[in-house]
Amino acid sequence: MSALDKFIEGLPKVELHLHIEGSLEPELMFSLAQRNKIKLPFKSVEEVRKAYDFGNLQDFLDIYYQGMGVLQVEQDFYDLTWAYLEKCAAQNVMHVEIFFDPQGHTARGIKFGTVINGITRALDDGKKKLGISSHLIMCFLRHLSEADAFQTLEQALPYKNKIIGVGLDSSEKGHPPSKFKNVFAKARAEGLMTVAHAGEEGPPEYVWEALDLLKVNRLDHGNRSLEDPRLIARLVKEGMALTVCPLSNLKLCVVKDLRNHPLKKMLELGLKATVNSDDPAYFGGYMNDNFKAVAKAVGLEKSHLLTLARNSINASFLNDTEKKALLQKVDAYART
Ligand code: HPA
Ligand code: ZN
Repeated sequence: MSALDKFIEGLPKVELHLHIEGSLEPELMFSLAQRNKIKLPFKSVEEVRKAYDFGNLQDFLDIYYQGMGVLQVEQDFYDLTWAYLEKCAAQNVMHVEIFFDPQGHTARGIKFGTVINGITRALDDGKKKLGISSHLIMCFLRHLSEADAFQTLEQALPYKNKIIGVGLDSSEKGHPPSKFKNVFAKARAEGLMTVAHAGEEGPPEYVWEALDLLKVNRLDHGNRSLEDPRLIARLVKEGMALTVCPLSNLKLCVVKDLRNHPLKKMLELGLKATVNSDDPAYFGGYMNDNFKAVAKAVGLEKSHLLTLARNSINASFLNDTEKKALLQKVDAYART
């Protein structure tokens, strides 16, 4: 292993862009299908992995929504979340802010409570048994209506103490942030933080809308912001964090080759970029895999990696005391 890879493995990390349903490994998919007596359209784990060849975001989403069909009862959501937290523990990920897609489950007749109770029971155990802290972000599916998002927010309000914020994901093109302006305003009025996927496949205008209309605290992906110099200046001035997902960008053809990935350029421009895994079971790797692949492809040095680790801590929804404790861990690691 290279010295830089070893440095990455030991680096204390924070993950800010992770869809819990996207951490469903084919092995768990098969065992849950068996447990719940669900027939999968695949014969083997190998066949599933072979199907993970995507030309764009929609190709992936079709398989992602199909895969989450094996999640039926609370224990399934617990097992899914626990498996992800064990990966975090093995990769020195200290804190996570994870997304879930309730509409992907309630549309199949699964109760909102089943989903959130399973996930949060695992997150609580992650804190107790693994020392990993966490926040949960509820995403609205943007291919559905704003009325549907409003209904989902209503279902979530009894569980508000378990949710730090709301996000926006799924098919970006044709579903601009403006479509969800009112439901985001309601979420903010309820004291929730806001984030949104923007500029993954969608144009820079969608990033402007996420900032101006949804008033996001953080931007998910944001790659296409680089096409607009005025937007770059705005993001730098506001210190807006971008949750960048290198292996996702490669697998969904947002970049053709990881050597062209804009991460280093983002850092050089002064953007608060962070590294994340998005849907690790589908895109070929968890946090360390993302860091290692992009560091090698674009030539990151230790100083870049430390900046990325600190950016994630600063961009998290932790309080100042919690941030300071994690920043001290990174500082201590930098001195080793
Ligand atoms: N983009 C948009 N929606 C998503 C993604 C993504 O990368 N992963 C899961 N839902
Ligand atoms: Zn995502």
